[in-house]
Amino acid sequence: MAKILEVKDLHISFRTNNGTVKAVRGINFTLNRGETLAVGGESGSGQSVTARAIMGILAGNALVESGEIFYDGKDLMKISEEDFHQLRGNRVSMIFQDPFSSLNPIMKIGQQLTEAMILNGKANQKEARQEYNRIMDVLAAGLEEAAGSKGKENLEILKKSIAKSAELLQAYSAAHDAIEALISNIDASLIDALDGDPKAVSKDIKEIIKMAPEAKHEHLVSDDKALQEAISGLKAANAAFASKSDRDGVRTALEKLKALLVSAMALEKPDYFSIAYCQLNGQIAAGNGPVTAMNEAAKASMEQNFLGAFRQNVAAAIKLSADRSAGLKAEATKLMEAKLPLFRAENTPPAELQAAAKELMAAVEKSIDRLAVTKDSMAHTFGTGLTSTLDAYLELRKLYEKKNLSKKQRAAKENADLDLYRGNVERVISRLYEHYSCCGEMTEAECLRQADALFARLNELAFKMVYRVTKQIAKKHAIDLMQEVGISEARKRYYQYPFQFSGGMRQRIVIAIALSANPDILICDEPTTALDVTIQAQILDLINKLKAERGLSVIFITHDLGVVANMADHIAVMYAGKIVEQGTVDEVFYEPAHPYTWALLASMPDLDTKEKLGAIPGTPPNMINPPVGDAFAARNQYAMQIDFEEQPPMFEITPTHWAATWLLHPDAPKAEPPRIVTDRIKRMRERMEVSGHE
Ligand SMILES: Nc1ncnc2c1ncn2[C@@H]1O[C@H](COP(=O)(O)OP(=O)(O)O)[C@@H](O)[C@H]1O
Ligand SMILES: [Mg+2]
Repeated sequence: MAKILEVKDLHISFRTNNGTVKAVRGINFTLNRGETLAVGGESGSGQSVTARAIMGILAGNALVESGEIFYDGKDLMKISEEDFHQLRGNRVSMIFQDPFSSLNPIMKIGQQLTEAMILNGKANQKEARQEYNRIMDVLAAGLEEAAGSKGKENLEILKKSIAKSAELLQAYSAAHDAIEALISNIDASLIDALDGDPKAVSKDIKEIIKMAPEAKHEHLVSDDKALQEAISGLKAANAAFASKSDRDGVRTALEKLKALLVSAMALEKPDYFSIAYCQLNGQIAAGNGPVTAMNEAAKASMEQNFLGAFRQNVAAAIKLSADRSAGLKAEATKLMEAKLPLFRAENTPPAELQAAAKELMAAVEKSIDRLAVTKDSMAHTFGTGLTSTLDAYLELRKLYEKKNLSKKQRAAKENADLDLYRGNVERVISRLYEHYSCCGEMTEAECLRQADALFARLNELAFKMVYRVTKQIAKKHAIDLMQEVGISEARKRYYQYPFQFSGGMRQRIVIAIALSANPDILICDEPTTALDVTIQAQILDLINKLKAERGLSVIFITHDLGVVANMADHIAVMYAGKIVEQGTVDEVFYEPAHPYTWALLASMPDLDTKEKLGAIPGTPPNMINPPVGDAFAARNQYAMQIDFEEQPPMFEITPTHWAATWLLHPDAPKAEPPRIVTDRIKRMRERMEVSGHE
């Protein structure tokens, strides 16, 4: 199973007037691609704080003491603000318990959806431009070195081809987008024309007529005469509809236009990179004709006259850059070896540490291979990671060295562990060290492959720079999304305000907004708690459906584990800022090992009878001064002396099942889960088996 998100040793506190609240105390978990991880626990156990840390939206008084959150090889805790915005907006989305609070009450639903898309599009444009310029600068320098002035000349040709290609592709995709929007509008009108309100039908058709010319493009709807005929036909039919309410006539005319559009959508996409080159250089393949033949001819011509030789130049530049980077990495590695003892020692003077960090950062920065198509994110985030962990460590050391501490400072000192902070600094360095020790040399073939990947990347960026999300296409996507999340009459509801939606429907809208950026990970923080039971089941079904269809990975936070029985792959049970048990859904449900999990399972409402076996006695501990041993000890009827004295480690039960309870120690007396829980689990299992065979 491929990991998509990995949380390591996360510690988060909050500064408050009463002291430091230790909300998350060393959490580790992994989310696998395409799976659902349920996180369960009582209110206050640190679930939302963990989710917010992943999203980068912690409250202002939060302090991330240590920890790493890896997504796509990047540590989310250490990347730049800008990168984070990109990730948070695009790759990871979150929905909350109360859908009302995530919606703007005075803005129409449709606008809220399209606004998110248009904003996102603008951010993408800006980011693409920066990245494009950066790569081009490095490539220019590399080519100059690898191929002299010829390399420079060729780079100019490449730049022009890419710019022209982006322009061509932009025109093509504008027409393509218009066709998509038109087909979707026609489909809606076809249904409406059967028995819809004549005025509304007529208005929609006028809109279609107005937009239809945008479908014209030499590689899409190229037959202008046919298009004009279809448009005039529709105009005439619409007039006949108004005077004689001829619904059939309208439908026939709509179908005719649709057929034209659908056949255009089936055409092959032109290879604009090659075509642009050929057009600029007065070669063949500029005009119409079957796209396959045109693509082949253009590609062959570009290859022969330009790219074949230039690719060798670029590959040479890539090789130079990679080799130089490898040499610099080896130097940086040596420097890390030399400096690590300073960071390990307890008493290195701060100025010396700072100087060493600066030296390391410069060496690493210099060693990054700027032409590598896949970013070396660990090296990229090294600087910010080292600075922030070192600052935190030195700050704390000052407190330890100072004599007369204020009450606040004393509390801060008591609450933070100097060794942990020093270890954080060391870890940032050793992780990169390991990463650098395993890099091999690039082969010739690999360099050529990288050259092609670089061309593709540059083309993609150039297109992103010119692509605009138009209102029309944003509207079409918004309506598609509304339909995808199960909102009927989406076209009508597009123009309504949040208060016109029921709670369940509002949550669907919030999900649609979360999906609008096409995320990989969806974090659901008690998304159904505010809804009644039937609606709750519908939203769960929806999340499951979206997960399957879009290949989403889901983190599902809930106070009621019963909710996730049928949808989770893995479960993590949280208590007082720690994960006390984790395993597959079967392991946690049928063989729970931690007394807290037993209590939690007993306290969930029975799905059939709605009866609760019993609330968990007592209350969660005060997180300003969390208990020394097992935080659950005071509420745990199975607690032993050691539970009050020492924090239990995570005991491995199976390779996928872990629990932190002294009951799993070989010397502990054998304790069984309460009968009431096992009975209930047995019943639940039988019922699930029955429903599983339906
Ligand atoms: N901004 C904050 N300031 C102080 N304490 C906070 C803040 N946010 C959360 N906490 C505390 O952190 C702990 C965990 O909260 P949270 O993650 O929201 O719980 P839950 O598991 O119910 O989602 C609670 O004790 C809560 O009071
Ligand atoms: Mg919460």
